[in-house]
Amino acid sequence: MKVNSIEELKELHVSKLPLLALRQAKAHVGKERVLMVCGGTGCHSASSQELLENLREEVKSQGVSDLVEVKATGCFGFCAEGPIIKVFPDDVFYVKVKPEDAKRIVCEHLIGGTPVEDLLFLEPTINEKVQTMQEMEFYKKQLRIALRNCGIIDPEEIEEYIAAKGYLALAKVLEEANPEASTKLLIDSGLRGRGGAGFPTGIKWDATRKATGEKKYVICNADEGDPGAFMDRSLLEGDPHSIIEAMAIAGYCIGSDTGFVYIRAEYPLAIHRLEIALDQARKAGLLGENILGTGFNFDIEIKYGAGAFVCGEETALMRSIEGSRGEPFNKNVFPSEQGLWGMPTCTNNVETLANVPIIFLNGSEWFSSIGTEKSKGTKVFALGGKVRNIGLVEVPMGTTLRELVFEIGGGIPNDREFKAVQTGGPSGGVIPAQFLDTPIDYESLVEIGSMMGSGGMIVLDEDNCMVDIAKFYLEFTCEESCGKCTPCRIGTTRLLEMLVKITKGQGTHKDLENLADLSKTVTSASLCGLGKTAANPVVSTLKYFYDEYLAHVDDKKCPAGVCKDLLRIEISDRCIGCTKCARVCPVSCIEGKVKELHVINQDECIKCQACIAACPVNAIEMV
Ligand SMILES: Cc1cc2nc3c(=O)[nH]c(=O)nc-3n(C[C@H](O)[C@H](O)[C@H](O)COP(=O)(O)O)c2cc1C
Ligand code: SF4
Ligand code: SF4
Ligand code: FES
Repeated sequence: MKVNSIEELKELHVSKLPLLALRQAKAHVGKERVLMVCGGTGCHSASSQELLENLREEVKSQGVSDLVEVKATGCFGFCAEGPIIKVFPDDVFYVKVKPEDAKRIVCEHLIGGTPVEDLLFLEPTINEKVQTMQEMEFYKKQLRIALRNCGIIDPEEIEEYIAAKGYLALAKVLEEANPEASTKLLIDSGLRGRGGAGFPTGIKWDATRKATGEKKYVICNADEGDPGAFMDRSLLEGDPHSIIEAMAIAGYCIGSDTGFVYIRAEYPLAIHRLEIALDQARKAGLLGENILGTGFNFDIEIKYGAGAFVCGEETALMRSIEGSRGEPFNKNVFPSEQGLWGMPTCTNNVETLANVPIIFLNGSEWFSSIGTEKSKGTKVFALGGKVRNIGLVEVPMGTTLRELVFEIGGGIPNDREFKAVQTGGPSGGVIPAQFLDTPIDYESLVEIGSMMGSGGMIVLDEDNCMVDIAKFYLEFTCEESCGKCTPCRIGTTRLLEMLVKITKGQGTHKDLENLADLSKTVTSASLCGLGKTAANPVVSTLKYFYDEYLAHVDDKKCPAGVCKDLLRIEISDRCIGCTKCARVCPVSCIEGKVKELHVINQDECIKCQACIAACPVNAIEMV
């Protein structure tokens, strides 16, 4: 399939509309139903591919191939409930489907006409099974703009993307042939970078457009190194063409014919889908020479990252693409003027780019009407930790943390108390309960000592120790520091050492002072964003949970019961002397005669808790 002109693309779009008709509940076109089986990494690793094959097999053997189509799609966001299937046009949403459920779905639902009850989601707020996404609290407050095609189209078929208005935004920009006006549209939309810093995307494009250089480059940053984050991966897996289209639009606006997608090699499925999409786009004449017969040339190459967090920082990323060691360099001159190989370069995050085509199609006013005054549109978050509904959620900016955690996230499981939410990954901080009604936008989060970051959001409950949380992130940044500058290389190491000391019950008040002082130095003296933000988890936990630090330092206690060195395992007088604990103890540190009270030798106990599990009368406790 080769599309030779803008006119041909428009005609192709119209001719492919029937492909999505069932999914838009519009018409019966040949088939009567389509099953979209989630093919994102989460569901994939829970056997969704096998499920898809079984469904296809079953559809064939039950003789309904003419009526039913089974397709793979991108992430629905509710990965913890996967594998997920959505049946169109019935609008039935199945969760936790196993490959062996294929027969029931085909026979009972597709042939018999009754949805399979036990595969529906049990909505906890009403304690009832619900059929549609709209009835689920998890989806009620979500607005899928960046994720608009995930769950709707098959990411491996360019025709489906074209049916969903794919490449029409590029056509529009090429037709208008006015890079300056197009860039202005993006400025007016208010779109800001979703990779962490929140820089206005249109302004960045405009600066690169105005810069002079023999060649210019567009980079898509798909490094996604934040622990727990998978927004960019899901977007590339579920809708790779939207990233390609956005990069081509960027190329046209800034005057570039070359793009790079920098993606970590640990994302094999995303890479696979991206390769397929690039190949399809080239064959269709939507990438390469003379795109849509307009004379515009643009192509994209994939560059693989080896999984170093610092390589997501744009200057380190450019060094890495150039083939050098991925270390950041000083931005005396902005990359928009001198970036890759010293040429003007525009780097954008995957999610930022995913928003671009729809902004060009729907207009800047449409986009800027969503969100808050300074943060427009939506943001995708990877919601995790101590929350019932773990998954990928997209909400309008301005949604409050409370809505995210308690309505979309369904609150804290096991009747535990909410303690804090950690946003922004290793560069961010913790936000305590008093700020739960804060609307999520770039400025508000910074004001309360955290940041948006790329979108990791970890909910913490009373069983999380805040010193331990700071330690966790410091371990990460320490490991990931490239070592180029001393404040980051040595400073994060010293911060970590002090945190370790405190969690071992060896911390002093002087350590608490030093933690705060050194955090300031590391923040102000480091070269790149990694070092400049590395102390944020320490600073925010010190600010909001100082009492917990004091409990570790003064009382040698970990109130959450996490720091092992501060805990004792003790046997109470409920002990009946059954000897079970002594028999399971791997270091033989429990003594006692049959039918007599047993005792733990505290010097030898390694706190493995095997005895607690073995005791039939709950006589052993962690104190
Ligand atoms: C240590 C570090 C890691 C980063 N990792 C990423 C990343 O994985 N993906 C990303 O898009 N931006 C990352 N960034 C931000 C980028 O440097 C850059 O600001 C971003 O890619 C620009 O795109 P945007 O304007 O669309 O957000 C990182 C920054 C730092 C300091
Ligand atoms: S701040 Fe850290 S990661 Fe960044 S350049 Fe310095 S040493 Fe490397
Ligand atoms: S297992 Fe429990 S009851 Fe049995 S000896 Fe140990 S502490 Fe006592
Ligand atoms: S991977 Fe299937 S719902 Fe996210």
